[in-house]
Amino acid sequence: MSKVILAYSGGLDTTCALHWLKQQGYSVVCFMADLGQGHDAAIVKEKALAAGALKVYVKDLREEFIQDFVLPSLKANAIYEGKYLLATALGRPLIAKHLVDIAHREKAKFVAHGSTGKGNDQVRFEVSVKILDPQLEIIAPVRIWQFKSREEEIEYAKKYNLPVDVTKKKPYSIDENLWGVSIEAGILENLSVEPPESAYQITKNPSAHAGFPRYLDIYFQKGVPKKIDARAYKLIDLIKELNNLGGLYGIGRTDVVENRLVGIKSREIYEAPAATILYSAHKDLEGLVSDRMMQHFKEMISLKYSELVYDGLWYSPLKEALDKFVDATQKNVTGSIKVKLFKGSCTVVARKSSFSLYKKEMATYGKEDKFDKKLAKGFIEIWGMPYRK
Ligand code: ARG
Repeated sequence: MSKVILAYSGGLDTTCALHWLKQQGYSVVCFMADLGQGHDAAIVKEKALAAGALKVYVKDLREEFIQDFVLPSLKANAIYEGKYLLATALGRPLIAKHLVDIAHREKAKFVAHGSTGKGNDQVRFEVSVKILDPQLEIIAPVRIWQFKSREEEIEYAKKYNLPVDVTKKKPYSIDENLWGVSIEAGILENLSVEPPESAYQITKNPSAHAGFPRYLDIYFQKGVPKKIDARAYKLIDLIKELNNLGGLYGIGRTDVVENRLVGIKSREIYEAPAATILYSAHKDLEGLVSDRMMQHFKEMISLKYSELVYDGLWYSPLKEALDKFVDATQKNVTGSIKVKLFKGSCTVVARKSSFSLYKKEMATYGKEDKFDKKLAKGFIEIWGMPYRK
């Protein structure tokens, strides 16, 4: 019997996929990646075995996710279409990497995933797998099987007694990890409807928060967030802490009609409290310590970087080369940024860095002014010379 390694989440799609693959004559090894989505690994493992898995791998990939995927993206200031901090997109190449590793260990020739045929995730999984091992064959059951709806999958699961949670009606498709939550489908497909409060998973309603603003000092060292209010954290704990704090203030919600890679527009809402706070603080600090040319050039790199992540090209030579560039831009990104969290917004309100290029005596309108205004006349003359008739 051919062996296939299935990226398994414990949800309806992957549970049906597991059983369906067995029916096609494969023996199925499941792999569940823990990226901080908050599922109980023991229960997911139990489910996979009950649905007929030969074996189940559960890997805690949170640390690797944060260090090797989230951090480079933060340093790059990557944000897709100005609103999406890429939580889901960053997780896929990591899952693909371990899928390939397990396939090698298990001497399997096939890997499988439960992504649909019209999303970005199928592209991210498959492009990544093929870059890492072009010999592996990929099966995407959801693209091939006969079921046309969730109801039909539930019928199938019932028929074969598969352990799926069909009692609770699930109104959305949700993907969650430490860097954020992506929520789509259901009522969200209606663009004229405001997302119901109940769609949000980890953030409180910003307008319901009547209290006072909360100030936080975030300290970075060479682009890496190290402290909150002078207290040192491991990066993973710092992110968890900011998700909690930011979540209380409704930080990091976005409602987006985004351009998918496969050519359609889709509506998704995101929650990314920690990512939003760190993105704002990091970008601001970087601006403070970078000269104008560098700062403007970095903007273009951020844009390209976000496209590469979104488009499933994490393992491409260009992404690798950009990482080198991005690291070079982080040399002086050391200092403290004070942010103010209030009613859903995260605002930078104060900055401190020994690498700051802000010179008060040059910027001031006060009497300590050292800027030689007489030089400005000549500068302007030469600057505008090429455009004069
Ligand atoms: N639109 C996002 C992306 O392409 C998230 C996709 C997964 N969303 C979900 N709700 N399951 O990265």
